[in-house]
Amino acid sequence: MGTTTNSSTRIAVLVAALASLTISAAPGYSQTVAMPSAAHAVATPTFYRDVLPILQRHCQSCHRAGEIGPIPLVTYDQVQPLARAVADSLRQRKMPPWFADPGVGHFSNDPSLSPDEIEIIGSWAGSNAPAGDPHDAPPPRPWISGWNIPEPDLVVQMSKPVSIPAQGDVEYTYEIVPTGFTKGRWVRISEIRPTSRENVHHAVVYVRPPDSNWLRHAPVGVPFTASDMTDEQDRHDTHTTKADILLVYAPGSSPDNWPAGMAKFIPAGSDLVFQMHYTTHGRPTTDQTRIGLVFAAQSPAQRVLTLQLTNSDFVIPPGVDNYRVEVHGSLPNDAVLLSFFPHMHLRGKRFEYNILHPDGSAEPLLRVNYDFYWQLSYRLDEPRPLPAGTTLQAIAWFDNSKNNPHNPDPTAAVYWGDQTYDEMIVGFFDVAVPADIDKTQFFIRPNAMHDHSHSVRNRC
Ligand code: HEC
Repeated sequence: MGTTTNSSTRIAVLVAALASLTISAAPGYSQTVAMPSAAHAVATPTFYRDVLPILQRHCQSCHRAGEIGPIPLVTYDQVQPLARAVADSLRQRKMPPWFADPGVGHFSNDPSLSPDEIEIIGSWAGSNAPAGDPHDAPPPRPWISGWNIPEPDLVVQMSKPVSIPAQGDVEYTYEIVPTGFTKGRWVRISEIRPTSRENVHHAVVYVRPPDSNWLRHAPVGVPFTASDMTDEQDRHDTHTTKADILLVYAPGSSPDNWPAGMAKFIPAGSDLVFQMHYTTHGRPTTDQTRIGLVFAAQSPAQRVLTLQLTNSDFVIPPGVDNYRVEVHGSLPNDAVLLSFFPHMHLRGKRFEYNILHPDGSAEPLLRVNYDFYWQLSYRLDEPRPLPAGTTLQAIAWFDNSKNNPHNPDPTAAVYWGDQTYDEMIVGFFDVAVPADIDKTQFFIRPNAMHDHSHSVRNRC
């Protein structure tokens, strides 16, 4: 793939300070929704009958005790004083967070409200936010405390807490946790939960099968970084792996929940390897991230693999406000495309995934107005079968100008790197393949002789 042949690929640095979150309006997102006039307002909406069901569906996953939303939106007493702010956040399309261009693709995890729902809440807020009759309320939405998934069958936690200093950059921190599985397990749903959420910029949980040599000399059950490795191979291994990814976490990202008949696989005897990128916030603390797993009832027909398009060979010139970096590669075998997870750092501006057709045309699959503080996954409403040889493209645009409020240094030329003042273009995407194919097998090309220069990467 041309520009990427020499990429030293590392996983992404994700990101942060939700308190300073700003959300930029996407093109096409800025339509204003008219306040309903008395003429077509049938009856004044009430909290219990009309508003609460919408909050349950669209807001409470984040706006309840213990979750990332700063205010709970569960009871009338909580929501009534905020009625205006709630209505405004919807009218401005700031909430719920979602950054895909609505003109491209349909996504099953799109939390956006319909114009009708926005109008109901606007009309309610504009009519002094009446409670209505509590008997009209839907039953409370049952949440599992501490999770946004059904009760996990198994929780795997890092064995030892990681100490995070008050200041400075923290090297990527790893912890290897044995599963002790005596048979392979299929994971249908999973969620990563840090214990110190504000310090976790990203977490990636990898599956290390027993026959893998990745980080083989590294200690098990204790945190370590590349600097702790005395073995040259292990040090190298902290920057590159072919291991399959179980799940990626970043602030605002959602749990994995695969369609029926599909799941991720953890072979018997595997370890889970936590890769953590911590940030510091002025006081020392600890984190002991865990992952909750819900197993599939039966072996599925298809296995889900997380792949990526990565290009580490770029220099973003100082001051440039729309610098484009591209990567493309062809799929080695047939696969069904399921979802995307674009990743950049503080200068990230836009991200696109396309299929490049043989006639030279580009078919857009996803366009994201990138927001560093909200790294979301985007799941196709309809999984898309892709024949072997299909060329997928990821394009990232960076804003290294002084007009980018997140830009740590508009005078710097910016290269690929782990820390958030460096940059990345990583286009993660998930595919389903036959259940008996693993990641290594998937990358064996039937016609490898003719086609080894363009490939979707089997490493990160
Ligand atoms: C994915 C998680 C998530 C979802 C879903 C979500 N929010 Fe939020 N919300 C946040 C976070 C985090 C913040 C704080 C950062 C910010 O202000 O953007 C926030 C902030 C807000 C604020 C501003 C609070 C303030 O301090 O003024 C309002 C109002 C709000 N959300 C309403 C909603 C409503 C209404 C919904 C559902 C329609 C919703 N949110 C869905 C995470 C979420």
